[in-house]
Amino acid sequence: MKTVNTFQRLKDNNEKIAMLTAYDYSTAQVLDKAEIDGILVGDSLAMVALGYENTYNITIDEMLVFVKAVSRGAKNSFIVGDMPFMSYNLSVEQGLENASKMIKAGASAVKLEGCNEHILNLVRRAVESGIPVLGHLGFTPQLMNTIGGYRIQGKSADKIEQILECAKKLEQAGCFAVVLELMPAESAKYITENLNIPTIGIGAGKDCSGQIVVTDDILGKFTDFTPKFVKKYANLHDVVLGGVCAYKREVKEEIFPSQKESFELDEREKARLG
Ligand code: KIV
Repeated sequence: MKTVNTFQRLKDNNEKIAMLTAYDYSTAQVLDKAEIDGILVGDSLAMVALGYENTYNITIDEMLVFVKAVSRGAKNSFIVGDMPFMSYNLSVEQGLENASKMIKAGASAVKLEGCNEHILNLVRRAVESGIPVLGHLGFTPQLMNTIGGYRIQGKSADKIEQILECAKKLEQAGCFAVVLELMPAESAKYITENLNIPTIGIGAGKDCSGQIVVTDDILGKFTDFTPKFVKKYANLHDVVLGGVCAYKREVKEEIFPSQKESFELDEREKARLG
């Protein structure tokens, strides 16, 4: 059984942490079987599962449907529920209330983006209340409009120090780990080496304590766009397309369903039919 302590133990033992996203029951079952170290029900599902252009439109109530599905499929996994845009920014009370909904829905922890005073207060109060928090720094998609688009972060010594300072504040506030997204490998290495808690990289090189990627990206199921940091381990899009086309052809050619996939009426009942 994976818990919040698994993350620190893996880091302390110099073993890399492997996390993936899941949004649905059957994917969660597979990740659970693979004993992945952590499953993030990421707000990336807004694009990947719901077809939105960005993460802004997903609500806490929508996220909860996916967290519940994943928690039903991944009984032994450590599940992190991603707090969506503006579900924790209005007040600490609002953040705590929504974070507690994530936990009640089956998440073991929540993830928050950024590190301003409000976020740090929220992290402290959440952790005090028994809700583990995963931080998220570097490129933070919910702040995309203020950052000025999809941009690599931590490209200068000053910026790297700023991110490190933020990461240290999150660590002090009680985060059990921090995601570092989209930054040069050397920047993430420096930050990782100067923190006690693990870093989980996405597009941040090999020297983070662990890695996370969007499962639909690495399995080639989501094809709208593929970031440079994604390595493809399968091509599910083509597998699914091939299956769908074969099914369609067999229906048209009356090959499917065959007798094997059909139920037979009892002879006596058949005889009674006009
Ligand atoms: O929403 C998401 O999937 C994320 C990433 C860190 C993978 O935040």
